[in-house]
Amino acid sequence: MGRLEGKVAIVTGAGSGIGEATARVMAREGASVVVADINRSAAERVARELGSAVAVEVDVSDEASVVRMVETAVKSFGGLDVLHNNASDASANALDVDIVDLDMELFDRLIAVNLKAHVMGCKHAIPHMLARGGGSIVCTASIEGIVGRGVRTAYGAAKAGVVLLTKSVAAQYGSLGIRCNAVAPGLVLTPALRNHYTSPEQIAASLEIYPMPRLCEPQDVANAVLFLASDEAAYVNGATLMVDGGATVYMPSAQFDAARRRASRPPPR
Ligand SMILES: NC(=O)c1ccc[n+]([C@@H]2O[C@H](COP(=O)([O-])OP(=O)(O)OC[C@H]3O[C@@H](n4cnc5c(N)ncnc54)[C@H](O)[C@@H]3O)[C@@H](O)[C@H]2O)c1
Repeated sequence: MGRLEGKVAIVTGAGSGIGEATARVMAREGASVVVADINRSAAERVARELGSAVAVEVDVSDEASVVRMVETAVKSFGGLDVLHNNASDASANALDVDIVDLDMELFDRLIAVNLKAHVMGCKHAIPHMLARGGGSIVCTASIEGIVGRGVRTAYGAAKAGVVLLTKSVAAQYGSLGIRCNAVAPGLVLTPALRNHYTSPEQIAASLEIYPMPRLCEPQDVANAVLFLASDEAAYVNGATLMVDGGATVYMPSAQFDAARRRASRPPPR
């Protein structure tokens, strides 16, 4: 029996990257999946490859569109048990470089897609989860919502908001059977990131920063989302699970010692 057998799940931003990987593991574990994305053809491509799934075109920053997405889940599969708030606009995020140069329309857009969308997802999913006696919400935060970075002022503020939103929803609805948790990935090697947003030099430099023998793949994050969505995490509520390979747990100087250690030992097999 699958870990989400008989459950109905919505995954936003499921047309690529982490959302696509999550939609695939959820379907593999027995869920009926609403593959939701602003890119209709990408959502349709993923949904076609899953067992019980439907594609939905959604703009997560638009409330009417979010309502339609949730209604599609209920009409297609009879209810809603799991919501993965995950969509984000990588091309807009990439423009968020420095606070002094930050265009305030861009700021509004980044907050709308990266924070307000999570609020609206919870707002409209929760009543349907209550009708089923409970549910599980998993939000995609980021290490950039935990520690400051040289760039991404608005994105980081939005992701920090997601971490607190997760706790608020957990506190408000935990006793009614709805758990709300978040994952906070570091750098994840999605196709978009590999092809458009990260150079081979940046990837090589990241290997020095992350205290792991490899960088994170979308599947690593999807596995964490699956755990939080499933009954295996039945008593986990309001948590933000770091999926960053330990990038945020050490002082940068620790990597000098790690480099010395690597140089004196053979690489792990
Ligand atoms: N890739 C990373 O390194 C990384 C690190 C930390 C956190 N994250 C977070 O992980 C999540 C997924 O990111 P990803 O790297 O898989 O990105 P991605 O670009 O591969 O996928 C994001 C998807 O969201 C969709 N999307 C964009 N705007 C939308 C909108 N308004 N409404 C609905 N869908 C929309 C895109 O079409 C795309 O399919 C995001 O919340 C991102 O902030 C990513």
